[in-house]
Amino acid sequence: MAHKTGIPVRVYLGTLLATLCLHPITVGGVDQLLNKIPSSSLPAAALKLEVALDNGATTLNHSMAMVQRMEALLAQGNGSDVALRVQTVNTDEVKVIQAHTLVLTLQSDVFEELLLSRNTSTVVLREPADCAAVFDKFIRYLYCGDISVRLDQAIPLHKLASKYHVWSLQQGLNQYMTGHLSSDSPTGHVVSWYQYAMQIGDMNLRDSCLQYLSWNLSSVLQSGEWGSISDDLLLSLLQRSDLILQSELELFEALESWIGQNQPASMTVENALKQVRYGMIPPQHLFRLQKQSPLMLKYYESIRDLLFLAFQFHSASPVQLAKYFDVNCSIFTPRNYLSLSWGSPWVINNPTRDDRSFSFQTQLGPSGSDASKRVTWNALFSPRWLPLTVRSTFTNEMQATRTDSGRPRIIVTPATSSPDFAGVSFQKTVIVMARQGGKMVVRHVYNFHQSTEEAGDFLVDADLQRRASEYLIDSSLYLHVVVKPLYHSLIVARK
Ligand SMILES: *[C@@H]1O[C@H](CO)[C@@H](O)[C@H](O)[C@H]1NC(C)=O
Ligand SMILES: *[C@@H]1O[C@H](CO)[C@@H](O)[C@H](O)[C@H]1NC(C)=O
Ligand SMILES: *[C@@H]1O[C@H](CO)[C@@H](O)[C@H](O)[C@H]1NC(C)=O
Ligand SMILES: *[C@@H]1O[C@H](CO)[C@@H](O)[C@H](O)[C@H]1NC(C)=O
Ligand SMILES: *[C@@H]1O[C@H](CO)[C@@H](O)[C@H](O)[C@H]1NC(C)=O
Repeated sequence: MAHKTGIPVRVYLGTLLATLCLHPITVGGVDQLLNKIPSSSLPAAALKLEVALDNGATTLNHSMAMVQRMEALLAQGNGSDVALRVQTVNTDEVKVIQAHTLVLTLQSDVFEELLLSRNTSTVVLREPADCAAVFDKFIRYLYCGDISVRLDQAIPLHKLASKYHVWSLQQGLNQYMTGHLSSDSPTGHVVSWYQYAMQIGDMNLRDSCLQYLSWNLSSVLQSGEWGSISDDLLLSLLQRSDLILQSELELFEALESWIGQNQPASMTVENALKQVRYGMIPPQHLFRLQKQSPLMLKYYESIRDLLFLAFQFHSASPVQLAKYFDVNCSIFTPRNYLSLSWGSPWVINNPTRDDRSFSFQTQLGPSGSDASKRVTWNALFSPRWLPLTVRSTFTNEMQATRTDSGRPRIIVTPATSSPDFAGVSFQKTVIVMARQGGKMVVRHVYNFHQSTEEAGDFLVDADLQRRASEYLIDSSLYLHVVVKPLYHSLIVARK
């Protein structure tokens, strides 16, 4: 072996392997490797170093050609000092890659250990099928520093990057995954990424996946991916109040189909059924489910109390109910429902032009006694609004500059007041859509009582002035306003 027989020399290969990580490493037999790399690459690399030292000089940049030579070196195996035998576990499949110790060890201390302690010219690596399938790609990354990734390759590549301690690739794949949650894939990929994130304990990736699934739940419920979600993921989703979907009934029906497909243990079914917010389902639908849903018939006993509570909620004004019962529990807490009785879409063309106002109606509340009463809401959007404290410091002559420095704001107030509003706090939620990879996705969700001022960061990153702002879809801002009656204050009043 070269490293055993040669005199170890400390060399800086940065100039040679211009695009790879520049780690000084101790290796022997470097001359052998240098001899195999086409000599024409050396002057270019040397030039580059000079440029770095001498500011003001012109850069002759041949790093693309260098990458191509490294790729050819791997493909042709010239000067290879190790053969990697990649065996797919539980099969006879073997793939052999002629590689170079020096290149493999540059970015991976795992390869360093493996290769420097070996006593044969072949190293056997056992990999599961998905990893074996992308092993070439992975090794090519070590030679060339770039990699093309498909949605279905992210996890196996991430596994390899983690196993061999190639941290730059691992980090790049994390970014790739969080940035590609909404990409099209025939079978869906977010659920498997979530499961992988749980398995490796990557909480950032897990949270990104959960948020994506929560904010895009209607699409997920209709996709083939829905049936494949695990018990744990199902229960985590059902607990969330920030789910964006058409209605609670849509969620119940999706739950029926998930249970039909997965046939989970009764315990799981009961836990899941208890997370449904029955108070948010109109009584006419609850009657039907109670008599006709095989799932509800089968598990009726375990949710009977919740159904009873829901029917009580529907039978009178929540104000009456709250005099006697605790209404601060999740079955009376709305999620972000897109159906029109809860709010309205609002598309604002050229949002920076001037203030815009908009009116829409919602039901007074989800209870059977309130659903037929309408509330009219006035919404005002100001593209450049200044908080009072800032405004008061401006003199009249400075008013001209005001328009440039304000922030977007939305204020939503009822058009009329009504005794029915007593004790109800109307939580407003503005869902902001943005374009990502040519698609509309939920980008932000802001909760407030009267004005987005309370949220503090409303559209701070949107840069609406810029025509190319990713928040603008054909020069328009796409919003959806949801109004959610909360009865918390009633409890306080009662005490
Ligand atoms: C050299 O060119 C490549 C693309 O051809 C570029 O990515 C790299 O940043 C350039 N390097 C320098 C030092 O200009
Ligand atoms: C590799 O070796 C072959 C001959 O064995 C030669 O034709 C080819 O140019 C070499 N490739 C490189 C990149 O040096
Ligand atoms: C080579 O290493 C293997 C295990 O790593 C060992 O079993 C074997 O005896 C070694 N052979 C020689 C010739 O040192
Ligand atoms: C939801 O996911 C689908 C499919 O991945 C995508 O087309 C759509 O744009 C997403 N919508 C939102 C609101 O994220
Ligand atoms: C309602 O319940 C939630 C959680 O159960 C709690 O955080 C909140 O303080 C309660 N509100 C009132 C007014 O009791």
